[in-house]
Amino acid sequence: MKRIKNNIIRKLQLLIVNCTLLICLFSCSTPKNEVASPDGKIHLSFNIDDDGFMYYDVKVNDSVFITPSLLGFEAKNGLNLKNSFVITKTKFTSENETWSQIWGENKTIRNNYNEMAVHLENEDSIFLVMRFRLFNDGLGFRYEYKVTDIDSVIITDELTSFNIKENGTSWSIPASFETYELLYRTLPINEVEDANTPFTFKTESGIYASIHEAALTDFPEMTLKKTEKLKTLETENNFDSQLLRFSDSQILSFKTQLAPYPDKKTKAIFTSDSQRTYAIRLSNSATQHLSNLATQILNFKTPWRTIQISDKAVGLINSNLILNLNEPCVLEGDLSWIRPMKYVGVWWSMHLGVESWVINDRHGATTENAKRYIDFAANNNIDAVLFEGWNEGWDSWGGRQNFDFTKAYADFDIDEIMRYAKERNIEVIGHHETGGNIANYERQLEEAYRWTAGKGIHCVKTGYAGGLPDGHNHHGQYNVRHYRKVVETAARHHITLDVHEPIKPTGIRRTYPNMMTREGARGMEWNAWSEGNPPEHHVTLPFTRLLAGPMDYTPGTFDILFENTRNSPQRKKWNDNDKGNSRVNTTLAKQLANWVILYSPLQMASDMIEHYEGHPAFQFFRDFNPDCDWSEALQGEPGEYIVVVRRAGEDFFLGAATNGSAREVAVPLTFLPENHDFVATIYSDGDDAHWETNPTSYKIEKKIISHSDTLFINMAAGGGCAVSFKVITK
Ligand code: NOJ
Ligand code: CA
Repeated sequence: MKRIKNNIIRKLQLLIVNCTLLICLFSCSTPKNEVASPDGKIHLSFNIDDDGFMYYDVKVNDSVFITPSLLGFEAKNGLNLKNSFVITKTKFTSENETWSQIWGENKTIRNNYNEMAVHLENEDSIFLVMRFRLFNDGLGFRYEYKVTDIDSVIITDELTSFNIKENGTSWSIPASFETYELLYRTLPINEVEDANTPFTFKTESGIYASIHEAALTDFPEMTLKKTEKLKTLETENNFDSQLLRFSDSQILSFKTQLAPYPDKKTKAIFTSDSQRTYAIRLSNSATQHLSNLATQILNFKTPWRTIQISDKAVGLINSNLILNLNEPCVLEGDLSWIRPMKYVGVWWSMHLGVESWVINDRHGATTENAKRYIDFAANNNIDAVLFEGWNEGWDSWGGRQNFDFTKAYADFDIDEIMRYAKERNIEVIGHHETGGNIANYERQLEEAYRWTAGKGIHCVKTGYAGGLPDGHNHHGQYNVRHYRKVVETAARHHITLDVHEPIKPTGIRRTYPNMMTREGARGMEWNAWSEGNPPEHHVTLPFTRLLAGPMDYTPGTFDILFENTRNSPQRKKWNDNDKGNSRVNTTLAKQLANWVILYSPLQMASDMIEHYEGHPAFQFFRDFNPDCDWSEALQGEPGEYIVVVRRAGEDFFLGAATNGSAREVAVPLTFLPENHDFVATIYSDGDDAHWETNPTSYKIEKKIISHSDTLFINMAAGGGCAVSFKVITK
C-alpha cells in the first residue's frame, strides 16, 4: 500500500523532472551521454527511447561496433527494472593509477579509465545508476539499483544485449549452466546459437573482442543466446536508421541468459535478509523494528558486463580489464601464506585407471606412495604435492557423495606424512571432492578448514564432480554464493584454493588472492579417458577461457601414448567415455610450452613421477618459476598459434605452441633487458616430430643470446617450444 502511494508521488515528481528536461532541450544543447576511452579509440553512448527503455552503443576507431543494444532486467511482482526511466543526472570521472598484487601474470597493473555514471529514476520508484567504464582495452558496465519500500527483488530475466554490427569469426563453447568442460567451436558469429563467456570474436574489419563478466559475487552466471532484436530504439534523433536496418538484416544479436534458480523462472534473488552487503536495510535507529518498511531500501549491484577490445588477438590476453573491474584485496596482514607453487600429485595414475581413489589394493594415496612423491618433489625443485583419494567417502562418489573431510583413509597416515613433508620442506595440497553435495560440504566447511590448517596444510584443491541437490545447477546464484563462502572460509584459515568444476573466473582473485586457480574448461584429465583435447584446444584456451583468469589445466604428460600404463594388469576402466584408445594429442615439447602458456600460479607437472625420472626434458620444469612478475603474449591467433613470455625475477620463460599445422615463428628477443647476455635453453620438437605419428621426438639446445637477437622457432604439427633464459652476469 505504502509502495503504491509512494509511486503516485513519484509519478508527479517525475512529470516535473520531464518538463524541466523538455524546457532544457529547447533552451540548452541536448545533454550528451557519451564517454570515450582515455586514448579516444572507443566510444560508448547511452540513450533512452520514448518509452524510457535504455540502450548503449559502441564505436571503435569511429566505426560502429555495437549497434544500439537494450539494457535492463525483468523482475517478479510487477517491479519495473527496465523502462519508464528518465535521466536525472550524468556524472563523469576518470582514474589513472597503478596497483600491485602479490601474484599474477603481472605484479603491477595500470588502471586507467573514463567513467560515466548515468543516474536514472522511473515512476515505480526505481533508482538506477548505469555505471560505464571505458579503458583503452575495452569497457565494462554494471547496474546499481536502489528499490524502496520492498524487502526482496526477484529477477526473472536480464535484457542486456550485444548487437554486434559486423559478422566475423568467433571462438566459444556452448552455453551450459552445468559445465565448461566442452570443446571449443570456431564459428561465424551469425552461426552461434548460444555461447558461454568469454565469447571471443574477430569482426570482418579486424577488431578482436571478447564478451565476459567481472566481479560475479552474488548473481547467476551470464551466458549469451542468439536473439532477434528485442526492441529497436525508436528515438530518431540519436541514431542512423540505416545502421539499424543493417543490423536487423543479420542475426548478430545476443541476449544475456542467466542461470536459473530451481523454479526456472527465477534467476536471482536479493532480499534484505541476505547475508550479502547488496541487501542493505537502512534504519534511523538501531532499535527500529525490521518490519517498518518506511525506511527500507534494497540496494543491489550486478556484476560488470564486459567487452575486451583490441586490434590484435594478443591484445585481449595482455588486457587487465577484468582485474581492474574488481575490488582491491580485502585480506589483511601478512599474506606470505599465499604463494605460487609448482606441484606434482597422486592424481594421473587414477585418471589412467592404474590406481584408485577408493581404498583397496590399487589405492594411490598410501603413506608409502605419499613419501615417494614428497621425495621426488624435494629432489626436483618442486614446492608441493597433491593427494587425491586420501579421505573417507570415495566409495560414495557418483552415489550419495558422502565425503568426510576430516577423516583420512586407514592407509594414509596423515600425521606421519605431514611430519615427513615438513622435514623435506614440501607443502601438501589437500583435496576436497564434494561430488556436488553442497549441503554435506557446507555442514563440514568450518571444521574441515580448521582441521586442515591445523595439520599444516595451506592449499586445498576442491571439486564438484556430480549433480547439485534440489534442482540447483553448478553456475546459478546458489552455487556462486557457495563458491564465495568457501573462498572466505579458506581465507580465514590461511588456505589457498584450486577449484575444479568451479564457477568461471571473473577476477575475484584480486579481492581474494587466496582464490588462486581453477579448472573450468577441458583440462588434461580428458586425455586420460576420452577422445582427448584436439591440438587447437591449447591455442584457443589463451584467447577464451584464460582471458577470465588462471587455469589449472595440469600440463606435462610425458608418456604421451600411455605406453607404460595401457597394458598394465593394474589398469581398470572407470570412466564411460574411455574407449581404450585415449592418448595426449600434442608433442612432448608442447607439453613443456603449456606450462608457460596456460597461466596458473599453481602449476602442476601432471604425469606419474616415474615418467619424469631421468628424463632430460624435465629440467625445464625444475628451472621453471611460476611466480612471475611480468608477462606478455607476443604473437598469436585464436585456434592457430601463440607465443607468450614471462619474467620471474631475472629469469625469462617463453612458450610457443601451434594447432594441428606445423609452423615457423620468428621471435625478436626485444623483451630481454639490454646489455646482458642470456643462456637460452631451447626445448623444441624434433625434426621428425608430429603430434599424431611421432609425438615424443624432441631436442634440447643451448645458445648465448641477447636483446638484439631473433629466435626462429620451428614447431611440428601439434607441437611447440619452451625456452628458459638465464642471465649471464656481466
Ligand atoms: C574432476 C577434477 O577435475 C579432477 O582433477 C579430479 O581428479 C576428479 N574430479 C576427482 O576429484
Ligand atoms: Ca574436471
